[in-house]
Amino acid sequence: MSLDRLPSIAAAIRAAMLECDPHKKVMAARRVARDWRLGRLAYDFDVMMPDQPGRPEAPELLPPNRMPKRGKAGSERGRIALWHALAHIEFVAIDLALDMAGRFGAGMNAAFVGDFLSVAADEAMHFALLDRHLRTLGSHYGALPAHAGLWTAAHDTRHDVAARLAVVPMVLEARGLDVTPTTLERVRAAGDESGALILERILDDEIRHVRIGATHFADVAKRLDVVTETLWKTLVSRYFRGTLKPPFNDSARLAAGLSRELYAGVA
Ligand SMILES: [Fe+2]
Ligand SMILES: [Fe+2]
Repeated sequence: MSLDRLPSIAAAIRAAMLECDPHKKVMAARRVARDWRLGRLAYDFDVMMPDQPGRPEAPELLPPNRMPKRGKAGSERGRIALWHALAHIEFVAIDLALDMAGRFGAGMNAAFVGDFLSVAADEAMHFALLDRHLRTLGSHYGALPAHAGLWTAAHDTRHDVAARLAVVPMVLEARGLDVTPTTLERVRAAGDESGALILERILDDEIRHVRIGATHFADVAKRLDVVTETLWKTLVSRYFRGTLKPPFNDSARLAAGLSRELYAGVA
């Protein structure tokens, strides 16, 4: 079979993004990553990515100020709310990584596509682990309302790969590196060892995700012939609606290729 007869990578990514059912999206994201790795998809961008990915009917998405209180940290209700919120973040992260590869892959290169598809496969696994954990607690993804704002960053940066890289992996995923160790400690202190192991795995993988983002961002800056740090600060102040606040997990950030000079100056 000649290369141009293979299905296009863009069509495969688009189909995974449009999948509404969480389990099917997990399978589709992992399949597209594997098919790409095995050379079964052509480096061809013949279709556009959707502006809104497919979503299941539940969870109901609410603006942050309408989210119900999580309940006391140690309570059963509080625990379920925590895992549900984490599962939702990972569910959206699947589409964020797919969209990165499918929307910007044509203007970048095959290594970029492969990197972000491997991220999508990780996010799919993170979601599956968290949903399974929720089920051991007698709940499941969709049982509670979830945060509506997580796709905003993708929408705001849909026209510019540098802006997308600056905000999604290098701000939002990096934020995960800062907050996960505290959650992990709390979960372990509560005696939830299987939950702690899931969070350890996620933290490890997220360091790699941030590093992938930072590496490709540096490549873009080089191509534009601008200083990486300057470009990042400009784009973050333009496109990131929140604030960067300490405490930072400096060692995890350093392992991910983010220097202290970079983010300390913005905080
Ligand atoms: Fe993740
Ligand atoms: Fe991630």
